Amino acid sequence: MSGSSETVARSVAERFEQLYGAAPDGVWAAPGRVNLIGEHTDYNDGFVMPFALPHTAVAAVARRDDGVLRLHSADVEGPVVELRTDALAPGSDKRWTAYPAGVLWALREAGHAVTGADIHLASTVPAGAGLSSSAALEVVVALALNDLFGLGLRGWQLARLCQRAENVYVGAPVGIMDQTASACCEAGHALFLDTRDLSQRQIPFDLAAEGMRLLVVDTRVKHSHSEGEYGKRRAGCEKGAALLGVDALRDVRYEELDAALRRLGDEEEVRRLVRHVVTEDERVERVVALLESGDTRAIGPVLVEGHASLRDDFRISCPELDLVVDTALGAGALGARMTGGGFGGSAIVLAEETDVPAITKAVEEAFAAAGFKAPRVFEAVPGAGARRLR
Ligand code: GLA
Repeated sequence: MSGSSETVARSVAERFEQLYGAAPDGVWAAPGRVNLIGEHTDYNDGFVMPFALPHTAVAAVARRDDGVLRLHSADVEGPVVELRTDALAPGSDKRWTAYPAGVLWALREAGHAVTGADIHLASTVPAGAGLSSSAALEVVVALALNDLFGLGLRGWQLARLCQRAENVYVGAPVGIMDQTASACCEAGHALFLDTRDLSQRQIPFDLAAEGMRLLVVDTRVKHSHSEGEYGKRRAGCEKGAALLGVDALRDVRYEELDAALRRLGDEEEVRRLVRHVVTEDERVERVVALLESGDTRAIGPVLVEGHASLRDDFRISCPELDLVVDTALGAGALGARMTGGGFGGSAIVLAEETDVPAITKAVEEAFAAAGFKAPRVFEAVPGAGARRLR
């Protein structure tokens, strides 16, 4: 699926009509994201700074009032799946349909009278690449239902409901970053988000105007959040907060970090997690300050520090991600780090425009030499958040 959003909307609407025998009420889009900085801080009430990708999940949707939910995806082989809205139950569905169905469940559970829908989805967000393909699916469905049922919910409220769908219905213990990024990002900006109260600031982020580029390198190593490691890190952070007597690690000030680490004594595992989260929040604030003062190139070393912290303290990198970072830096990149949940997925590389071909070639050659699957490299420009296309 490519082309202008009008062309995409038309083709998704046409497919809807073939499947369901009538035109949809509308077509919506919601993007995937990359996170510039602020990893594994969101479930610690901390700071994050994602921006939206041009890749989107698109949904053609018609409202129904008879308690039936019908789902179809262009990206998954198979017929239309038909469910009853009053029979939706957390944990009952292990297929892709759990994401859209979970959103409908979360809206109904929050007291919104959503009485059914016909939905056809098509996404260009690479799945399992750490680029929030699931959040894009959730948010596009939430936005469509919000419009069709006149719920009047704001972007951040939809994000909360989508997170609930993923936590409870799907069973993945993710934070709030991805859904908020998909719902609230703006073209040309990165989103500085305080995940405690969801207050936001749009930070202009136009690298091309300054002769730079941001590359996304998808290692093609698939990750999955419902598998234990993400949950273990989250539980470790919560243990750290409890031992330190704070609501969340966000409440440990950077200046107090050494004292906090001493108080954790021989809890070595927890100490490492705490050190990552507290220093990562500080890195987000540093990046915001640098971008706002126009010193964009200086964020490069901060990204590299972030990667080292995720690799050594949080321990969620992998050989492929480390190879991207090391090779890109060796080939002249300004900065690089893994992005997203970890254990595979994607890395980002900040580079001078003129260095992009050499860096791309170096990474591709390094992967071939190591015997890794060929990575997928593309340039990311901050795109728009979720919206109605027609
Ligand atoms: C995944 C989760 C997010 C966040 C990141 C790590 O993308 O969905 O909530 O925790 O990992 O920063």
